[in-house]
Amino acid sequence: MLKGRHVVLGVTGGIAAYKCAELTRELIRRGAEVKVIMTESAREFMTPLTLQTLSGNPVYTELFTLIREQDIAHIALAEFAELMIVAPATANVIGKAAAGIADDLLTTVLMAMKAPVLFCPAMNTQMYGNPALQENLKKLQAWGYHVLPPASGPLACKAEGQGRLPEVTAIVEAAVSVLTLKDLAGEHVLVTAGPTREPFDPVRFITNYSSGKMGYAVALQAQRRGARVTLVSGPTSLPPPDGVEIVNVGSALEMRDAVLSRLAGVTVVIKAAAVADYRPAALREQKIKKKGGSLTLELERNPDIIQEIGRKEGRRIIVGFAMESENLLENARSKMVEKNMDLIVANDLREEGAGFQCDTNVIKILDRKGNIEELPLMDKAEAAGRILDRVRALLKEKKRGRRG
Ligand code: CTP
Repeated sequence: MLKGRHVVLGVTGGIAAYKCAELTRELIRRGAEVKVIMTESAREFMTPLTLQTLSGNPVYTELFTLIREQDIAHIALAEFAELMIVAPATANVIGKAAAGIADDLLTTVLMAMKAPVLFCPAMNTQMYGNPALQENLKKLQAWGYHVLPPASGPLACKAEGQGRLPEVTAIVEAAVSVLTLKDLAGEHVLVTAGPTREPFDPVRFITNYSSGKMGYAVALQAQRRGARVTLVSGPTSLPPPDGVEIVNVGSALEMRDAVLSRLAGVTVVIKAAAVADYRPAALREQKIKKKGGSLTLELERNPDIIQEIGRKEGRRIIVGFAMESENLLENARSKMVEKNMDLIVANDLREEGAGFQCDTNVIKILDRKGNIEELPLMDKAEAAGRILDRVRALLKEKKRGRRG
């Protein structure tokens, strides 16, 4: 998402300015090209040399400079930017931006900026609560500027409260979200992810190798694209994506109840979970002790959750997954028809770079019209985006159909 994107980072004079080194590194790590502007007071907290080294570009400090001998710095920087982040944003820079004051390079670039701007205020709690500051933030938001509210916790001034610059990951996530087209706004997407655990005594269960990565990637991308997202997740080691409602479940029966009770208002269901088809017929209250000879476990069928959703009233888009080890396309197509899905995402267990634990996938998207979209190896975030592109197209078709 940030790969090749041009970011201007404006650093102002707050104690959190030191975190900009880490922020610059993370933006660069994600593939962005970063140019940094520092105000005079920011340079009291951090040297331009640090950010110049990390960004691989000169750090801009003076209003009256020329870039490449003829370009005026503030215009060139404004034209370069696809996104500007002001972090930390002091009360002073927020006040100046809200009042239309441009008296140094950073505020002048802000004036000339056409790209979206993300302010990350960081200051003492009292200052953050000040009505003038709050009014200024409201004013900026009403003009279309983005604001990432500060986090709460201990502050440099020894007080506790809201005012801390959020973690670098949260700033980067907010930046990605600003750059993402909100083409799923108004939709409610329910995603299932991960394996299920089917217990047969208090310490043992049957499960599978699903890591949950594909489903979590879908949930995150849908959230970034403006959807309300509910993620019903089997046990995984993944952190829940920000801004997503997470419902943790264990067994297939729990997943079924969690999904069916949350369907009202859901417009898209994406079932990436690897649901166990069978569960042990009996759940022993006590741990099973070993004895001589073998142990036989009787298994019974679990309900098919996606099939139940397909039979429910309400015309929602249903996307299923099929992981196969043979006859990929035929098996996937018959699952799609049988389970009343609109799309099925098929992947082949034997394919290099596809499957449960990896960060990449090789998917084929099949639809009800017989189209097969074969995608190359890509990371799961990108694959999630491609699936959502298809969902978006179906939603559009559905809306057109309703009007026509
Ligand atoms: N699925 C489900 N409930 C189940 C089993 C599967 O909702 N009890 C969903 C999965 O989340 C996935 C799709 O059905 O989206 C296909 O799952 P898969 O296990 O590949 O298909 P099955 O129909 O179970 O077929 P088989 O195991 O025989 O391949």
